[in-house]
Amino acid sequence: MRPQLCAQRGSGPSKPPRARARARTGIWRRGLRVGIARQTCYNFRMTLSTQQDGLSLSLHGKVALVSGGSRGIGAATVRLLRQAGARVVFSYRQAQPQAEELAQACGGESCCRALRQELTCVEDGQALAAAAAKVFGRLDCLIVNHGIWPPHDQPLATMPARQWRTTLGVNLESVFGLVQAGVAQMLNQPGPPEGARGHLVLIASTAAQRGEALHADYAASKGALISLTKSLSSELAPQGILCNCVAPGWVRTEMSEATLGDPRAAERALRLIPLGRAATPEEIAGPVVFLCTRYAGFVSGEVFNVNGGAVLAG
Ligand SMILES: NC(=O)c1ccc[n+]([C@@H]2O[C@H](COP(=O)([O-])OP(=O)(O)OC[C@H]3O[C@@H](n4cnc5c(N)ncnc54)[C@H](OP(=O)(O)O)[C@@H]3O)[C@@H](O)[C@H]2O)c1
Repeated sequence: MRPQLCAQRGSGPSKPPRARARARTGIWRRGLRVGIARQTCYNFRMTLSTQQDGLSLSLHGKVALVSGGSRGIGAATVRLLRQAGARVVFSYRQAQPQAEELAQACGGESCCRALRQELTCVEDGQALAAAAAKVFGRLDCLIVNHGIWPPHDQPLATMPARQWRTTLGVNLESVFGLVQAGVAQMLNQPGPPEGARGHLVLIASTAAQRGEALHADYAASKGALISLTKSLSSELAPQGILCNCVAPGWVRTEMSEATLGDPRAAERALRLIPLGRAATPEEIAGPVVFLCTRYAGFVSGEVFNVNGGAVLAG
């Protein structure tokens, strides 16, 4: 049972000396439980507790959209958002069996829905945001996660214009459409009773921060997401929408398989990481979900490094 916590200043009968001391320090000891038992409040009643009940990163009542949620980081984020209590819509391009299995595992139609959507241009992004908002009637958190990384090394001098356009189309142009329509939805729907009006989390990469030789298309597209995050933060925070970015280093997913599955390439990649290993998708999903909670309520425009210490830049 929790101790009785709050008393009005000057109210109640006069206390014996030990009780007065307790009330002054605010600390009760009961066996191993230590709680701040009484706080004197001047104009409001306040409840504080140092009991170690754990923190609740609850997203109950929120609706989230994760683009590219069928595999890898996106799928881990879908699972964690559901664990936090959000209803989730996620998109996929072709991995239908994985997408359907994930939606079922996360509670099925009433709380988790997969939408097929190619994301290569502005209109694709707009279409996904509009379709997602219809599923549960609103959109509170938009996680822009889908992306491609052409795995072969390609010097800029010989990079076909088609590769450049494809990478920028998927990783950047569709993001413009998705964010534009997602933000419009957040601004047009009734705001939540408390907290931010909306959360945007864009998934960039360490390649955005330090560049990536022979992958200039990918690095340029992800660098643009960091600039977009900062621009949107300044533009949307006054309207209650928080925009942040998560910048992962190497993560074990299908995208990185070509490198991390090759012992020599993996050794070259991992020796630059002080923690000495690649991340799991769950280790990226955690910071993403955190940024959607009230505990990140004063975080806006942040580039959240999740890279094992490999790049120490914002
Ligand atoms: N893995 C890493 O080492 C790493 C490092 C830094 C940043 N990132 C970034 O993190 C994000 C997720 O990466 P990941 O490793 O989880 O990737 P992944 O395992 O390859 O999954 C990519 C997801 O994006 C979807 N997708 C890809 N191309 C698409 C398109 N043209 N239209 C619509 N959806 C598309 C895929 O759908 P289908 O399943 O249907 O194909 C899938 O759901 C990406 O933005 C990536 O750039 C990854």
